[in-house]
Parts: sequence; structure tokens; C-alpha cells
Amino acid sequence: MNKTSERTARKTVLSGIQPTGEVHLGNYLGALRQWVHMQDEYECFYSIVDLHAILGEDDPADLPARTLDMAISILAVGVDPERCTLFVQSDVPEHVELAWLFNTVAPVGDLERMTQYKDKSKRYESIPVGLLNYPVLQAADILIYRADAVPVGDDQRQHLELTRDIARKWNARYGEYFPEPEAIIPEVGRIKGLDGKAKMSKSLGNTVSILADEEGVWESIRRAVTDPQRVRRDDPGRPEVCNVFSLHQLVTDASLIPDIEEQCRAGTRGCVDCKRILADSLVREFAPFRERAEHLRTHPAEVRGVLEAGADRARDVARETLAEARSRMGIKWRSAL
Ligand code: TRP
Ligand code: SF4
Repeated sequence: MNKTSERTARKTVLSGIQPTGEVHLGNYLGALRQWVHMQDEYECFYSIVDLHAILGEDDPADLPARTLDMAISILAVGVDPERCTLFVQSDVPEHVELAWLFNTVAPVGDLERMTQYKDKSKRYESIPVGLLNYPVLQAADILIYRADAVPVGDDQRQHLELTRDIARKWNARYGEYFPEPEAIIPEVGRIKGLDGKAKMSKSLGNTVSILADEEGVWESIRRAVTDPQRVRRDDPGRPEVCNVFSLHQLVTDASLIPDIEEQCRAGTRGCVDCKRILADSLVREFAPFRERAEHLRTHPAEVRGVLEAGADRARDVARETLAEARSRMGIKWRSAL
């Protein structure tokens, strides 16, 4: 396959995901499902962003395992290394150098206005500069592949805006080169946790792993919060306020949705039965993931091979971009002598 000619034919996508280890339903519906769907239409670069992850408080000893587990999950959901480039961010150190070059144009004021920064910085007595610069590295992740589009969750909209600003400022100063990438936000909106309140997250225990078996899925779904006004089994329910119903709309066969809605409103189907249907849908969706993950877990060399080949491919493009950016910024004394 000739990757160079492909670059001109298709638009380029980059996305990144933190190596949290276990992938849950929220990650899947909010991002990974999109990754799978975009593989043929775009030239895709998918990165496990370990250099971003080290800003968290997690034990460094666990990071390698979390990185590999994340790779296994990404491959398990159907991201196909034959059709995209999957790599670990730190394997392509060019990202970091480009981030430094961007630091020279990124305005501190804009970085200080990022909501994620404002939230997270509250947790520190002394704020690390990396927390402020986080979106600059993210901009480098994206622009080093001159990506046109970035599939991300709604919470990353602001970082994408900043990426475009950085591209614009850099281009204004050094000549038109970087595209201003668009955010592609899935229509699913914010995916609420099974508690019906907070965003899905593993640490809040309000989600379900995409590698859960039938029992594990039911264990989580069984406890999901539904319409609080439905107390007795035959009380009429309100699907529009029920998170179980929102999830049905995302994973249950579309032909079943009208019945689920009607029977809820009429009070003819109880919430437990309704949740059984949801659990079935999830088990069906997850089944191939579990099988592939099982295979990969017993063949770690395959995973390693995929990530190494991915890094090689990513580095080819990253080097080219970095060389151009350096040159336009005057970092080329060797050729000047
Ligand atoms: N900040 C993103 C998140 O927390 C992860 C990320 C890092 C990313 N670099 C990226 C996402 C580049 C998209 C593109 O989800
Ligand atoms: Fe929600 Fe289903 Fe119960 Fe209706 S029947 S409130 S949609 S869980």
C-alpha cells in the first residue's frame, strides 16, 4: 500500500485517548465507536497519549500495563491496524518538540481560560506548568499529522478551538502550512453514568467495562437509575428522563425502540425487564470484543508489533512536518553555513 499517495486522497484524522487501562461504555460510545467507523473514510492516526497521562496521580509502575491494556481494548473494539495507524504518543517524541515550537505562539491567557485547566488546577497547591501546557501538546499531537478532523468528546471542544488558534497564529507568522482542524463530536451528547447523574467514569463506578461478560453487564445495568417517578411496576414511565432509555437509543436495535418507549409510557413493561433488553444489547455488542481481547492478551507480541509498526508509520509523517516547521522558524543553522 502506498501511504504517501493516500495522504493526498483522503482527509486525515487524529485522535488521542488516555491510557486508563480499562475501556468502559462511555469511552466506547463517546469516542472509540467513532474511531472504528472513520477508518475507511479517512486516513486515521490514533494515539494512546501516555505523555498526557503522566499529569495524573497514577502510579508510574502501572503506566506500561495501562498503555498495553488500552491498546488491547482499542484493537478489540475493531480498530484495525491494517486500515489505520495506532501508536503510543511517547514513541513519537517529535510531538514534544513541536509542542515547544507551539509554546512560542500559544497565549498564556487562552490556556488559563481552558475549563479543564481551571477545574484540574484547583486540586494543586502548586500547579505544574504541564497542566497549563496540556492543550499545547494536544495541538502538536493533532497538527503534526496536519489532521483535518479530530473525533473527540464534547469536553474537548475548547481544546480543539485552541488548536485552531495555534495553527492560525503560527501560519500568520511563518506562512500558511497547518490546517485548522475541525472537531467531530458524536451526536450522542454527554453520556450520563448509570447513576443517571455524573459523566460515565470508571472511578465513579457508574459504568460498565466493554470487556464485561454477561454477568458483569447485568450486575451494572441492574443497578442503573431509571425514571424516579416510577415506583410500582405498572406506574407509567417517562423515557425522556430515563438514562436507560437514552442508552437503548445508542445500542439497542432501532426496530425495538418504539415498543420500549410505548410500553414504558403505558406502564406495561417494568424497568427490570427493560434493563434486561438493554443488557442483552450490550452483551451482543461486546461479544466480539471479548473474544479479540482474549486472543490479544495471550499474544502480547502481536500487540507490541502493531504499536511498533504504528509508531514507525506515524514517525515518518511527524518527522516531515517537524522538519518543515523547524525550517520555517529558522532552526536550520547547519544548512546556513
Ligand atoms: N485531551 C484528550 C482527552 O483527555 C486526549 C488527547 C490528547 C487528545 N491528545 C489528543 C484527543 C489529540 C484528541 C486529539 O480526552
Ligand atoms: Fe426507563 Fe425502561 Fe423503566 Fe421506562 S421502562 S423508566 S425506559 S428503564
